[in-house]
Amino acid sequence: MKIRERVTFRRSVFIVLIFTLGLIFHFILTSPKEIQTASILALDGDLVKGERIFYAAGCGSCHIGSDRSKNLLLTGGTQFETQFGTFYAPNVSMSKDYGIGKWSSEDFYRAIKLGQNPEGKHYYPVFPYTSYSRMSDQDIMDLWGFWKTLPVSDEPSKEHKLFLPFNMRSNIGVWKSLFMKEEFVGDNENPSTYLVEALAHCSECHTPRNIFGAMKTKQWMRGASNPSGKGKIPSIHPDDLKWTKEEIAEYLSSGLTPNYDVAGGNMALVVENLSKLSKEDLLLIASYIKNVK
Ligand code: HEC
Ligand code: HEC
Repeated sequence: MKIRERVTFRRSVFIVLIFTLGLIFHFILTSPKEIQTASILALDGDLVKGERIFYAAGCGSCHIGSDRSKNLLLTGGTQFETQFGTFYAPNVSMSKDYGIGKWSSEDFYRAIKLGQNPEGKHYYPVFPYTSYSRMSDQDIMDLWGFWKTLPVSDEPSKEHKLFLPFNMRSNIGVWKSLFMKEEFVGDNENPSTYLVEALAHCSECHTPRNIFGAMKTKQWMRGASNPSGKGKIPSIHPDDLKWTKEEIAEYLSSGLTPNYDVAGGNMALVVENLSKLSKEDLLLIASYIKNVK
């Protein structure tokens, strides 16, 4: 071989190698994760505790359909316009044909812990499993116990309308391995951290995001643009929000600000859920907000 030919040959071997490595890497990052579920199967779900988790985590905010008078009917349909396209919250009632009525407790556990469906496909993080994945095994099983008691809706889910390449679920695997974090931002010894970060997920709306849609943890709760493009979600960082702990708790339970304004937009849905929590829980959330660094 002449020298030039050898160089081109080497270069093409190199390119093929890089390409193959890339494929392998892509495959590893996009393939489903496995998780040990044996220990959770031994847990009994406590319905009363599960109801508290349901409201603290606000599952109904998105999954109750537009007719909110139909209490706890998890028809879905709530629409999310984003730069990636339009997402619709699915029917997650226990309907065997249109919801998750055929799921086992392990399927439910994997959806929340890993953001994966029973076939191992990745969910889009509009379903805020990035926060919920920190839930304890017991809380997930309590929630599942409560979930199974909720009314069934036989309305089919709507298909998301997404732009290329966001309609490829495998790519979410890459996103997850880059941006899905297990550790808490706040002090993990404090019970308020679990309540706010694993359940109430305030940061999902109140923290700004980078161009990949991941939260900027250095600007925790400092306000964000509204994903649907309309208006801005206010900062609730103590540098900006001067309300007392009691005033924050009052707002979360009644939606009333210290100036007697009423919570609007998506915050109204958050309040609809949190108003079902105890005063102690709301004060715990408020104390977390007062102590954000
Ligand atoms: C901000 C809105 C939002 C909230 C809050 C929310 N979800 Fe969802 N959820 C979604 C969206 C959107 C999807 C669809 C994700 C996808 O297609 O990848 C989804 C998907 C799901 C699925 C998968 C359904 C299927 O057919 O595969 C389950 C189960 C689920 N959510 C349960 C929950 C639970 C439990 C909670 C509360 C702990 C919750 N969701 C809170 C928006 C939400
Ligand atoms: C689904 C998105 C979303 C979530 C989740 C969310 N918020 Fe909000 N929040 C908003 C929006 C939107 C507003 C603006 C409401 C308005 O315009 O009336 C708001 C307003 C507020 C305000 C009033 C700030 C002001 O200066 O008027 C407080 C306090 C607040 N949120 C606290 C919280 C806490 C605490 C949590 C978690 C328990 C939380 N929010 C979760 C969207 C959200």
